[in-house]
Amino acid sequence: MDAREIEADLTEVLVTEAEIHAKLAELARRIEADYEGEDLLLVGVLKGAVMVMADLARELRPHVNMDWMAVSSYGAGTQSSGVVRIVKDLDTDLTGRHVLIVEDIIDSGLTLHWLLGNLESRGAASIEICALLRKPDAAKVEVDVKYLGFDIPNQFVVGYGLDYAEHYRNLRDIAILAPHVYS
Ligand code: XMP
Ligand code: MG
Repeated sequence: MDAREIEADLTEVLVTEAEIHAKLAELARRIEADYEGEDLLLVGVLKGAVMVMADLARELRPHVNMDWMAVSSYGAGTQSSGVVRIVKDLDTDLTGRHVLIVEDIIDSGLTLHWLLGNLESRGAASIEICALLRKPDAAKVEVDVKYLGFDIPNQFVVGYGLDYAEHYRNLRDIAILAPHVYS
């Protein structure tokens, strides 16, 4: 896809790169204050959270650990089913660890709800969630997000790690995907 084709697939930029970075800096200051003196393990959810993880982790002082999980939701289409399968598990033992799950987006909330339940059985000292985006109008279960970037409308978004059929992940801004692309 060339630049013009990509632009034709997007209806509007919802959150700019500058707004994302400003927000992550703000969240990082809160996280640093809340975990002062503690060792923090960031758990990124592949693949969407790659950009959030990379930028948030580099905002955080001092040192943090990073690990990754890949999960996949059973069922077809763009809707999450809530039945989740672990595709790649953590390498880290969570016993006694302070864990911060790093996610790109909370849509129905089903994936994070499941993930939280799964990680809670592993003996962590604490588990919290940081999500860049949330669609409040799409919620099927309430998920307690301690560190939230932006609430957005219930539309399909891409960029900054978020994909449609593995495209657009490397866009710097977050944009609304034009319905003609997926309908
Ligand atoms: P749930 O519904 O379980 O969904 O909260 C979580 C996962 O679904 C993906 N997702 C999106 N991906 N644009 C995307 O590129 C979107 O608007 C969108 N909504 C949900 C995403 O992987 C998220 O972790
Ligand atoms: Mg994701």
